[in-house]
Amino acid sequence: MGSEQLGAAPEGGPFFTLAEVAKRNSSREAWLVIHGRVYDVGRFLDEHPGGEEVLLEQAGRDATESFEDVGHSTDAREMLEEYFIGEVHPQRGGQEDENGIQAHFWSTWLIPIFGALVIGLMYRYYMLDGKSS
Ligand code: HEM
Repeated sequence: MGSEQLGAAPEGGPFFTLAEVAKRNSSREAWLVIHGRVYDVGRFLDEHPGGEEVLLEQAGRDATESFEDVGHSTDAREMLEEYFIGEVHPQRGGQEDENGIQAHFWSTWLIPIFGALVIGLMYRYYMLDGKSS
């Protein structure tokens, strides 16, 4: 049994959407997300010291909170690497970071710049108008 066959995907491996993860929610195929990283826990179900029930409950979902709530040991965290298969797609994964950053950019910079431009033009127009009359 080659334990490397599925687990050892390279760091920053392929991207998956949360929808793709959500399809793997059974004992035949069980994926879960912890801190934005996707893990295939299918072959870990039998071995999990906390039992397969809890893993199946979280399969297909973002299990970050439940994983952290348990207070898993450093050993447990190191074990994660064995089951790592990829990351949640940064744009389509359901985390709004990217959009949030863009919205932030527009509201912080472009709106004030545009406002200043309009005021500048109005001022100029007013001054010219004042001179010509
Ligand atoms: C790939 C993901 C996971 C790995 C590698 C993993 C690994 C482990 C390990 C090694 C332990 C033994 C205790 C320790 O060393 O901390 C453990 C216990 C446990 N795990 Fe996980 N776990 C995973 C995901 C989860 C998830 C998603 C849950 C959801 C609730 C969970 C719930 C538990 C529970 C309830 C225990 C028993 C704690 C106890 O008896 O004190 N685990 N896990």
